[in-house]
Amino acid sequence: MKTQVCIIGGGPSGLMLSHILDANGIDNVVLERQSKEYVMGRIRAGVLEHNTVQMLRDYGLNERLDKIGKPKDGTLILWENRPEFFIDIKKWTGKQMMAYGQTYITEDLYAARERDGGAVICEAQNVALHDIESDTPHVTYEKDGNIHRVDCRFIAGCDGFHGPSRKAIPSSHSQEFHREYPFGWMGIMVEQPPVENFIYAYHSDGMAMAAQRNEMLSRYYVQAPINDTPEDWSDDRFWETLLTRFPEEYAKKIKTGPSIEKSMAPLRSFVSEPMRHGSLFIAGDAAHIVPPTGAKGLNLAFSDVHYLQRALVSYFKGGNVALIDSYSQTALRRVWSAENISWRLTKLLHVFPGEDPFEQKLRENDYDLLLMSEAAQHALAYEYMGLPFED
Ligand code: FAD
Ligand code: DHB
Repeated sequence: MKTQVCIIGGGPSGLMLSHILDANGIDNVVLERQSKEYVMGRIRAGVLEHNTVQMLRDYGLNERLDKIGKPKDGTLILWENRPEFFIDIKKWTGKQMMAYGQTYITEDLYAARERDGGAVICEAQNVALHDIESDTPHVTYEKDGNIHRVDCRFIAGCDGFHGPSRKAIPSSHSQEFHREYPFGWMGIMVEQPPVENFIYAYHSDGMAMAAQRNEMLSRYYVQAPINDTPEDWSDDRFWETLLTRFPEEYAKKIKTGPSIEKSMAPLRSFVSEPMRHGSLFIAGDAAHIVPPTGAKGLNLAFSDVHYLQRALVSYFKGGNVALIDSYSQTALRRVWSAENISWRLTKLLHVFPGEDPFEQKLRENDYDLLLMSEAAQHALAYEYMGLPFED
């Protein structure tokens, strides 16, 4: 098979790139290792930045978003024995964010790909990249016992943190930046009406969070030791922990119930530079991971897709290589600002085991500054909203 762009990974970044390239008449094929049902069943992000919503609108993916997405002015922080604080995006930036689950986005994207006759090959095993330093790379995969080959001009690695694309870049040409955290987020989904806001609750036992998917679907998280598994957390233990970490007046508004899903997400910060090598680009979680505090991962994947589609369209339509050459540098500026705010919010809102009391005093002082300084409130809202795209 021959195509212009071979996209590895059919998660949100790969599907969105495929959708936009198609809208611009650029031929592409998506290779996804899992079944469509598996990808659509993965429960992850729930908050979209203004820029992400705008991209979905620009490419006609807003029908369901406009029906069930819930615009939000910001996120509430509650703090044990201190006043609450609202990260007021609307007030400081004039923009809003949107509560709309990643599961819905993936479903909307698969539906659009099917409607438009997009080539999405699921259950593609042993995907391997070849000749990425040439102008004629190719990708091989196995399906139904046969080996297939896709010849292309460019490969887009949108295959998440564990995929083969980033690993295809020789280590002599890339640099990786890591930060591991000694805790994760234990998350549950419950068929109950959510509380009104997205809420981060700081407590001396650890962070807790309230999130939402729709009017009858709530998502909650608690900070948990890194090696814990969902089996360690009965529903009773989860609710008891969560309700202890929320101040009483909020805890009594939380509607508990049996969980319909429970999962543990380790927290990690990671960036691989550069995001292009020869004819290979990497985008989304393939290139970087942020801890979920700040809700930046999916939004950052979309921002990479924005810069990458722009580069590919300008190359295939006008023979222009300038945006191809600047993709990595431009995308990384936004990546590092998301890494920065995600790290700072993680540091602010979690308990770090073994930390010295000096660090705790600094954490409390950071929060007190937010309570008293409009300049600090404005700065946080600006970063939390996500930087504007560069021209
Ligand atoms: P992925 O979603 O990982 O998709 C990659 C795809 O590549 C997958 O479908 C995978 O099956 C496929 N693949 C992997 N290996 C291969 C292979 N060998 N061959 C072919 N295909 C392959 N982000 C936000 O913006 N807001 C939030 O509120 C938020 N909350 C989160 C909460 C949690 C608990 C977690 C875990 C994450 C959260 N995120 C959030 C992050 C967000 O989910 C990810 O950043 C996002 O999924 C990245 O999309 P992606 O398409 O780049 O990668
Ligand atoms: C979710 C929301 C957040 O604001 C966040 O930081 C992480 C996850 C969610 O909706 O799942």
